[in-house]
Amino acid sequence: MASLLQYINFDDPALWISAVSIIFNPTFWNITARQEYHNKVLTRLFNGNAYYGCYALAVTIFSLGIIRDLLYERALRTQPTHPALLHPLLKPLAAALFTSGNVLVLSSMWALGVTGTYLGDYFGILMDTMVTGFPFNVTKSPMYWGSTMSFLASALWFGKPAGLALTGLVYAAYWVALKFEDPFTAEIYAKRERARAAGKKN
Ligand SMILES: *[C@@H]1O[C@H](CO)[C@@H](O)[C@H](O)[C@H]1NC(C)=O
Repeated sequence: MASLLQYINFDDPALWISAVSIIFNPTFWNITARQEYHNKVLTRLFNGNAYYGCYALAVTIFSLGIIRDLLYERALRTQPTHPALLHPLLKPLAAALFTSGNVLVLSSMWALGVTGTYLGDYFGILMDTMVTGFPFNVTKSPMYWGSTMSFLASALWFGKPAGLALTGLVYAAYWVALKFEDPFTAEIYAKRERARAAGKKN
């Protein structure tokens, strides 16, 4: 562990820029989505059209994700490589992680659609029923796990301890995001169920 830390160049600004973008993204979409839920900021921006608001947020989050990935790649490029991480078995492991991570991300986007993937629930665009098939029968948060696995895959592929540290940060950022998101979206759907139940009684 100590030896891995010695192979991280903490003086490189690219490392910190990457760290900031990793923390920024989920923070940004959670704050924006809550603003939408409480004050309809994006829906209003698009003249009351919740779908346009959600699509705009989707494009923004998607773009921020690409920028975050590029900043991560750039940070890794100049970081030291650890000899132990150049073990030949790690390359196929990295490839497998990258592939399965992307399968999780892409299949969950496919299952949820654009509005389901990009926080449509906060716009009042709810899924009819909870998606329970693949990849949601493997993990409750396939998008987050898939993304974390891709970060880990790059760290292992290039043999960079800094990549392992940044992957840990990705994991932590998503962990915190889920603590905010899960109970909140659960309550959005519980509210609909209560409304439906009340509707049936009348
Ligand atoms: C998840 O669902 C898919 C297809 O619906 C199935 O092939 C797979 O075996 C399931 N996985 C688990 C862990 O249940």
